[in-house]
Amino acid sequence: MKTIIEPFKIKSVEPIKFTTKEEREKILVEAGYNPFMIKSEDIIIDLLTDSGTSAMSALQWAGIMQGDESYAGSKSFFRFEKVVKEITGKKFIIPTHQGRAAEKILFSILGGPGKYFPNNTHFDTTRANIEFTGAVAEDFLTELGKHPEIPGDFKGNMDVEALEKFIIEKGAENIPLVMITVTNNSGGGQPVSMQNIKDVRAVCDKYGIPLFLDACRFAENAYFIKLREKGYGDKSVKEIAQEMFSYADGATMSAKKDALVNIGGFLAMNDEQLAMNARNILIVTEGFPTYGGLAGRDLEAIAQGLEEVLDENYLRYRIKSTEYLGNKIREAGIPILEPPGGHAIYIDAKRFAPHIPPHQYPGQSIVCELYLEGGVRSVEIGSVMFGKYDKATGKLISPPMELVRLAIPRRVYTQSHIDYLAEVIIEVYKKRDSLKGYKIVYEAPMLRHFTAKFEPIEG
Ligand code: F0G
Repeated sequence: MKTIIEPFKIKSVEPIKFTTKEEREKILVEAGYNPFMIKSEDIIIDLLTDSGTSAMSALQWAGIMQGDESYAGSKSFFRFEKVVKEITGKKFIIPTHQGRAAEKILFSILGGPGKYFPNNTHFDTTRANIEFTGAVAEDFLTELGKHPEIPGDFKGNMDVEALEKFIIEKGAENIPLVMITVTNNSGGGQPVSMQNIKDVRAVCDKYGIPLFLDACRFAENAYFIKLREKGYGDKSVKEIAQEMFSYADGATMSAKKDALVNIGGFLAMNDEQLAMNARNILIVTEGFPTYGGLAGRDLEAIAQGLEEVLDENYLRYRIKSTEYLGNKIREAGIPILEPPGGHAIYIDAKRFAPHIPPHQYPGQSIVCELYLEGGVRSVEIGSVMFGKYDKATGKLISPPMELVRLAIPRRVYTQSHIDYLAEVIIEVYKKRDSLKGYKIVYEAPMLRHFTAKFEPIEG
């Protein structure tokens, strides 16, 4: 088979500023060893997130000029609504400024004390928006999804038996909806199978509970279904996506992922009363229902991006280029969460640096070293991000996994960037025994990973 090439030509470029290792050492100290605190111009390859970092196409930029900025009834809204309806099949489409705004609206209507929301794995903002209302967010990831070293086709699946048990225990009347996150970001960008979506739907039907999708990466998930699930190989990705949405009563979406734009989101649903309530909150918090916190030009770019993301040449390149990075570093012996996900590769820090205990943040150590070695920015997803202190003993309680996420922005980096990246990671792996543990010297009371300051533990 021939090399899978980037399915685009580059018309507009953004220069990368190169730094030396000596400069990066200084920058890292000034940032308190926290890459969130580094200026983006001091980064060579930025893999902090795939969210809002896509490169837009010529047609999306043309759409920016076409944007109708009327306060009400904008032409751009109707184009956006048509495209979203076509893919999701939902009756009511509500634009929001990003995914969490859609979550905020949905859960402030349906949440509250005594309510429970099951998900395969809640993303942080989804969980936070649920908990903010006093409700409980509960994860039901299939057992296979909890083992980073074991490969599997659909490690994002929901544990349907555990879900049903939970519904019986808590009472269907206390569960306003069940949500499935496609792909499962917090679980390694792993897809959910169509069969699993259908099975969850059947349980929801049995107890009369609506099903919603957290659809941020729906196109990547649909492409995995095409590649891996029996009976879908000959269907178009668009048909597969439509089928996925057909089992759901609604969806929240961060357009910053699979709509290939830098800002935007939406809420989609069939329930008219819920849509009316949502629009009322939208008007107070986001904007009039035909722009919802966005400019007309953003709605044009989203509509265009949603059409482009379903192009199978694009998706083949997208999924294969992520896998390419995974394969390259795995061949060098580097432990990764298997198999490679849709939008990111996750390094298993526990196996990469087994000499650093979780309370000395092995993931953070790798993140710092990747920056020093090659100006690469990644993010720790482990004890820094999710660690909690035991109230009685003050001891750190670590999450089950210590990971470093390398999230790949869409259509931004070429194969030589990825080759460089692999070289940097392999170089760090070669000197893994010399990696130091870190301690936190400052932390905020909430979401500490964004602003924490660290120091290496000497000796
Ligand atoms: N749901 C999932 C699965 C996400 O990955 C994100 C964002 C959101 C909801 C919230 O969307 O940022 O538009 O408000 N994930 C980004 C990330 C931030 O880096 O994974 P948003």
